[in-house]
Amino acid sequence: MTAVVLDCDPGHDDVFAMLLAAAHPAIDLRAITTVAGNGTLDQVTANALKVCALAGIDVPVAAGLSQRENENAPSIHGASALDGADLPQPADLLVDEDAISLTERLLAEGPLTIVATGPLTNVAALLRKRPDLKPRIVFMGGSCGRGNWRPLAEFNIWADPEAADTVLSSGLAVTMCGLDVTHQATATPEVFGKLRAMATPLADTMVDLLRFFASTYDEVFGMPDPPVHDPVAVAAVAEPGLLRTVAAPVAVELAGTHTRGATVVDLHGVTGNPANAHVAVELDRRGFWDVMLRAVERLG
Ligand code: BDR
Ligand code: CA
Repeated sequence: MTAVVLDCDPGHDDVFAMLLAAAHPAIDLRAITTVAGNGTLDQVTANALKVCALAGIDVPVAAGLSQRENENAPSIHGASALDGADLPQPADLLVDEDAISLTERLLAEGPLTIVATGPLTNVAALLRKRPDLKPRIVFMGGSCGRGNWRPLAEFNIWADPEAADTVLSSGLAVTMCGLDVTHQATATPEVFGKLRAMATPLADTMVDLLRFFASTYDEVFGMPDPPVHDPVAVAAVAEPGLLRTVAAPVAVELAGTHTRGATVVDLHGVTGNPANAHVAVELDRRGFWDVMLRAVERLG
């Protein structure tokens, strides 16, 4: 089992990441930490606690930081950052410790993988505070090509490019699950059908959330089958055989006139720079959804 802290900003697809991290037998979910992204820090923390109540997830939840840009994504996730479903009252799991101290303490206890599915603000703060610590980091963010929040920048990187640069320059084992693979994790009518067939309160709520997410993705991006990005990063830890990764140098554009927040991935080694990340380039889509839906089933 891999000990994992899930650092997230729920967010519709973050909810799927929470469910997969909580239910997959290969993952020992030690804590959930929150970072401002899809909504404000208060919103995403409340959302994480509501999802814990909904799915019976019983791990410590700690709030982290807000990015300097204060970038949120209401056009995709709604005003609450998790519109579209009736959610229960927040679970009583919020601890008194902040996200960075909690993760630091867990790292002192043994090997730990941080799966980050929001802006990398918390992770970078931890690495700046304790450069001696050696977590493995798997994040959803970036792209080898085009972006989504800007023409060449993906949302999580755009919201805090300096944090992404800190992570990618850290020399740690880093895996990047960008749009190249998460755009393969689409929620098709078949996925909706399988969730509906489960006929459990959790699955029904996931259908409501996905319906909202599908409608905004269609409006904003013309994609009626929305890509469920974040659980792909959890799958990279739980089921690494589902992804093909290549070791490559990745730089974050911090200053470009039109390209701030872009991840510049040198897939062909033309820069001669050493590889600093394993970049996911292919996903077994069917295998991914089998694993994801099994997790929803397991949580009842
Ligand atoms: C990422 O941005 C957020 O809106 C999603 O939750 C995901 O983490 C996709 O670009
Ligand atoms: Ca997210």
